[in-house]
Amino acid sequence: MSAASTPAPSLSNGSALPGHVAIIMDGNGRWARQRKLPRIEGHRRGVETVRAIIDATRELGIRYLTLYAFSVENWNRPQEEVGALMGLLEYFLKRETKTLVKNRVRLLTIGRTHELPAVVRTQLEAAIQATAKFTDHTLVLALNYGARTEVVDAARAYAAALAAGREKLNDGSWATFRRYLYTADIPDPDLVIRTSGETRVSNFLLLQGAYAEFVFSPVLWPDFTKADLAAACAEFARRERRYGLTSEQLKPIPAASK
Ligand code: FPP
Repeated sequence: MSAASTPAPSLSNGSALPGHVAIIMDGNGRWARQRKLPRIEGHRRGVETVRAIIDATRELGIRYLTLYAFSVENWNRPQEEVGALMGLLEYFLKRETKTLVKNRVRLLTIGRTHELPAVVRTQLEAAIQATAKFTDHTLVLALNYGARTEVVDAARAYAAALAAGREKLNDGSWATFRRYLYTADIPDPDLVIRTSGETRVSNFLLLQGAYAEFVFSPVLWPDFTKADLAAACAEFARRERRYGLTSEQLKPIPAASK
């Protein structure tokens, strides 16, 4: 089975660790407001959490981590905040690429990254190239990402492939269509976490998260720790993933009746 294909239904999660954790990092603004600091301070602290959670993910043995760092809607925030977020991204990439290489973490992106400022694109390309050969751990940054935009981009690419005769209309399978998503080479998330107590999906991995388990943590992103991540994974392990089947269908068949 390729890494990107839909997993077969599992009987239960048992002590299973999610192979792919995707996080909606929320609460930076509120963290700053609680301390009477500018919102940007919250984002700055959020970057420190990003570094800590990348390490924690690796230490816990989770192979894929996707972070929702900038949505297509985030451009509509005050210009000063957008500029600060782009600056933080550039700073993070400059500072962190060496650490990603040292820890053998591959960097990938999803989203319309060609619309990011040139200076950020340059840093991204350098980091992606420097880490391209690593296979054990992957960090995916969702940048200028929106699930609806992704569907539009995928449909456009799929239509072009149909017109060019590279795909056949009567195929029409999900396995084929998913190859046109930004996540073509990335397995679907098993666990999606949103911090800060908000219980929305906000245009994040709407298709890929079809069978994900969701955990909503009350902790604001700047305060989110390895222990909070481990707690979300423990919650994941208690869930039964049914993929549309019944609980009974998932029960292991007793050895005697086999
Ligand atoms: C949501 O909090 C957070 C964001 C829109 C940006 C997340 C960005 C970072 C953590 C830093 C940059 C990322 C990387 C990968 C270097 P919010 O501002 O909506 O918080 P609020 O809901 O409390 O206002």
